[in-house]
Amino acid sequence: MYAKSNGPEPDVKVGERLFYGLISTGEGSNSCVSCHTMHTADTMNWNPSAVEMAKVAAEMDLATFKEHLLTPSGAMREKVHVKYQLDDEQLFHLQGYLKELSETGAKDKPMSINQLLIFLLLGGLMTIALVDLIFTKKIPYKAIHVLIIIFGVSFQLKIVAHEMIDLGRSEGYMPDQPIKFSHKVHAGDNKIDCLYCHSNADEGKSAGLPSAGLCMNCHQVVRNGSHSGQFEIGKVVDAYENNKDIEWVRIHNLPDHVFFSHAQHVNVGQRDCQECHGDVENMHILKQENDLSMSWCLDCHKETNVNFKGNDYYKTFEALHKDLAEGVRDSIKAADIGANDCMKCHH
Ligand code: HEC
Ligand code: HEC
Ligand code: HEC
Ligand code: HEC
Ligand code: HEC
Ligand code: HEC
Repeated sequence: MYAKSNGPEPDVKVGERLFYGLISTGEGSNSCVSCHTMHTADTMNWNPSAVEMAKVAAEMDLATFKEHLLTPSGAMREKVHVKYQLDDEQLFHLQGYLKELSETGAKDKPMSINQLLIFLLLGGLMTIALVDLIFTKKIPYKAIHVLIIIFGVSFQLKIVAHEMIDLGRSEGYMPDQPIKFSHKVHAGDNKIDCLYCHSNADEGKSAGLPSAGLCMNCHQVVRNGSHSGQFEIGKVVDAYENNKDIEWVRIHNLPDHVFFSHAQHVNVGQRDCQECHGDVENMHILKQENDLSMSWCLDCHKETNVNFKGNDYYKTFEALHKDLAEGVRDSIKAADIGANDCMKCHH
């Protein structure tokens, strides 16, 4: 991608150390990696990730790169890129490292230190128990050995399972999205209605996601985020202007053999989004609140009253209407009108 010039090559090792702050980048300055982190965490990090930032930096000429760090313009950049004292040679090495990083990507995420320690400790304990069981025989009761080994194995499996869940679909699933879109900023702080962006939820099977065009209704004008500066909103503008799809990572996903309709719940059943999706307007990173298991659906149908009066949809249930009118029953649950029949969800 980068034509080899005849000029000097950057020393990427020096660049890497500057990036991590192992070589001083200026009195009182922050290391780049403290904001531009290699890996994302459970909480929103509003700064561009290291790799995303590196991709932008790789395209800059050295003069622009220098300007962004030493004499930045733009409200957010002026706030974050301060006190850097880097000479041209250091900037050249630093950018060289970023070019390499933009091509190789971040290294695989290591297991957290605590987990690794527990994992190793358990391994050690089990080894001792095993050795004592077979050779040294210092502990009198075999049950102790067995207990240690059973505990050890089950805890280790739990740790491994936890690592696997991070990769798959599950309750609490919150993957990285291509743009740091926050429901708290939009649905919470700015009180934008859920249906403004998920307009299909009222009439359709799926709720649907908004297009970049819809985002631009506001971001034609709003170009600076209080948390993220121009970087994230810049991606929206770029997608819109270059007609690219924003590839949101899907979070909720029922298996194909289950039928679920938003309209049935939002419009007919008059359920709030929050009953199923939780406190979305307080989430910076959206996460799946419920496990979407069959019992989750069935339980709610058994507990939730349907509003029979004045809703044409329920006209056909004459017997239930009669019971209600005659006081034979005081409420009608979703399950009473067949919501828990197998065929309603499994066609
Ligand atoms: C205190 C946090 C912080 C530190 C430290 C930091 N940055 Fe940034 N950087 C940001 C934020 C936030 C943005 C997005 C600013 C915006 O778009 O308005 C950004 C943007 C950038 C950009 C993209 C410029 C653009 O907006 O197009 C580059 C390149 C960059 N940083 C490089 C670096 C390098 C190299 C270092 C270390 C010498 C560094 N940053 C240190 C927070 C930081
Ligand atoms: C300004 C537009 C906007 C508004 C307003 C908005 N959303 Fe979203 N919503 C999005 C975008 C974009 C995504 C995809 C990115 C993500 O998952 O964060 C999304 C994703 C979701 C998802 C997860 C979809 C999946 O992949 O499974 C749910 C659930 C959701 N929104 C519910 C709500 C609820 C409830 C409200 C109102 C409290 C709301 N949204 C308001 C734009 C919006
Ligand atoms: C009765 C529970 C329930 C209610 C109420 C509900 N949802 Fe959902 N939602 C789900 C389930 C279940 C899925 C997964 C559907 C699938 O995988 O087919 C889902 C998926 C989604 C998705 C991602 C996939 C899609 O359908 O486009 C979005 C976005 C979403 N819901 C937004 C909303 C919004 C906004 C509201 C309120 C207007 C709402 N939901 C109300 C249960 C609900
Ligand atoms: C109805 C208006 C509206 C729509 C539609 C809208 N936004 Fe926003 N967005 C805002 C406002 C207002 C802010 C807050 C700006 C600020 O921080 O001052 C914002 C902030 C942001 C930020 C920066 C957050 C921060 O605090 O740094 C991002 C990123 C963003 N929006 C992405 C999107 C995306 C992606 C879409 C489309 C799915 C979208 N927006 C649709 C009004 C909107
Ligand atoms: C928050 C409570 C709630 C949850 C959770 C819920 N539902 Fe429902 N559901 C209702 C209510 C209330 C109705 C009755 C509305 C109506 O159809 O008249 C209903 C009705 C239905 C119906 C229509 C039955 C008919 O009469 O045609 C189907 C199908 C359905 N739900 C599927 C599901 C599936 C699949 C899930 C789980 C993924 C689910 N529901 C989760 C509340 C819920
Ligand atoms: C209200 C909706 C609903 C009704 C009614 C319903 N199911 Fe399910 N069923 C689901 C959902 C949702 C799943 C997916 C669970 C998952 O992925 O964990 C499922 C999964 C299954 C599976 C696959 C096993 C599995 O765990 O993935 C079978 C078999 C099944 N259902 C049988 C039935 C039978 C038999 C009935 C009637 C007694 C029935 N279902 C009624 C929603 C429903």
